Amino acid sequence: MIGGLRRLLALAAAFAATAAAAAPTLVTVDPAHPGPRIERDIFGQFAEHLGTGIYGGVWVGRDSPIPNVRGIRSDLVAALKAIRVPNVRWPGGCFADEYHWQSGVGPAAKRPVGVNSNWGGVVEPNAFGTDEYMDFLGQIGAEAYLSVNLGTGTPREAAEWFEYMTSPLATTLAKARAANGHAAPYAVKYIGLGNENWGCGGAMSPDHYVEQMKLYSRFTHNLNPAQAAGDKAMKRIAVGWDGQQSDYTEAVMKAWRDKTWSWDIERVSLHNYTVGGWPPRRLATGFDEGDYAGLLRETLGMEGLLARQSAIMDRYDPGKKLMIAVDEWGIWLAPTAGTNPGFLQQQNSMRDAILAALNLDVFMRHADRVRLANIAQMVNVLQAMILTDGPKMVLTPTYHVYRLYRPLQDATRLPVRFDPGTYRHGDVTLPRVDAVAARGTDGRLWLALVNLDPNQPAEVEPALAGAPLRSAVGEVLTAARIDSVNSFADPKAVAPQPIAAQASGGRLVLRLPPKSVAVVALER
Ligand code: AHR
Repeated sequence: MIGGLRRLLALAAAFAATAAAAAPTLVTVDPAHPGPRIERDIFGQFAEHLGTGIYGGVWVGRDSPIPNVRGIRSDLVAALKAIRVPNVRWPGGCFADEYHWQSGVGPAAKRPVGVNSNWGGVVEPNAFGTDEYMDFLGQIGAEAYLSVNLGTGTPREAAEWFEYMTSPLATTLAKARAANGHAAPYAVKYIGLGNENWGCGGAMSPDHYVEQMKLYSRFTHNLNPAQAAGDKAMKRIAVGWDGQQSDYTEAVMKAWRDKTWSWDIERVSLHNYTVGGWPPRRLATGFDEGDYAGLLRETLGMEGLLARQSAIMDRYDPGKKLMIAVDEWGIWLAPTAGTNPGFLQQQNSMRDAILAALNLDVFMRHADRVRLANIAQMVNVLQAMILTDGPKMVLTPTYHVYRLYRPLQDATRLPVRFDPGTYRHGDVTLPRVDAVAARGTDGRLWLALVNLDPNQPAEVEPALAGAPLRSAVGEVLTAARIDSVNSFADPKAVAPQPIAAQASGGRLVLRLPPKSVAVVALER
């Protein structure tokens, strides 16, 4: 009798568990309590002189048979315009601390040819320099984020670079700019005061970096009258945390709290790659679910890193005047077999698209502090949007996430409540579903959703606090396998599809396929 009762109870518990697993995840959005603006600059890109990130990827030269406008490939420009790239960080990375801007201006034939000692020890032709970068930004409609050379350069060199770019006066350098084809001053939205100066940027102690950084902040002037003050004024970014040791953020913030009138900063950076242990050897394709789950767990650590960096900043800046720039992030895998390992070339899979969406969601949740982020990197390097090979070009799954997330640019984040559930693999436990809601600049309500579970669909029931919903319409990205990629032979293997649901019986239920990212507009 007791045995029978036990069996009955076990059956009832199993039934309850199945019913609970099958119940849609209720995602309640509260439009009445808007949160911070999701700054569009968190969807920024990073393009370094590294491998074929610039040469071949962006720049093919004016005489190339590959269609181009003034040397910049036109297929790439069209693709980047479609995802509305807000800003592009350039020229590095580690490259920036060995870059001398004078080598990259003036008649092409007269530019010195150097060596890219950071990345493969290859020739740096200097064919793509400041004016080409600005032309490229103009073609795709993005803003400038320049990193100055704090490692091997001087404050004077940086000051002269900015005079060249931004002076409206008839100075010798501004006249040189005009002679190089651009009479009007350029706008520069962001200046990076060095790059990873705890590492490739000179292995400086935090205090030494701070002293250098102050000089660059003090003497590098943006002279463009349109950027003299207010919202348009250039923002200065100090090097912060490497995600391991907090010394740089601490030192920078302490100096800022005690600063004088003569220097200032507006952002502190954070760099963090998802690697699965150095040196990078995780596979871009042919990996298993254990790898998938482990790397997603690691990437979700971004949440804790931002919370920690914010906590340090809060101690010195409780009024939240300074913001965070996550100006390098993404997945860093083993290089593609047969390529120069110094070129950091890797394929990009459905897993990487999910990883991108999860990070963007974290940034949006930290929108009160995170105002800039740059995925590494835009073309052909690390977690790229686009891969090229000569005249061929392919859009990666990560590119499609950026396209899906366009309505979130400059949107107002809205509170969202949901029980994420769990996806388990081996000893890894992750949320099954992620969600971010926002009111777009178009006035519509948008919901970004991720189903992390690679095996099971997830039913999601969006709801509005206090009003019924009529429908949800948008696009969803999924693929046959977690390691599905787009290749030159099969460029559309991973591509967004329409997704929609109509309310029925007062409820609206969306079915997210396994391992998917969706962005939908909610209609009342
Ligand atoms: O993105 C590749 C490299 O990673 C960058 O040059 C450097 O800043 C970082 O270590």
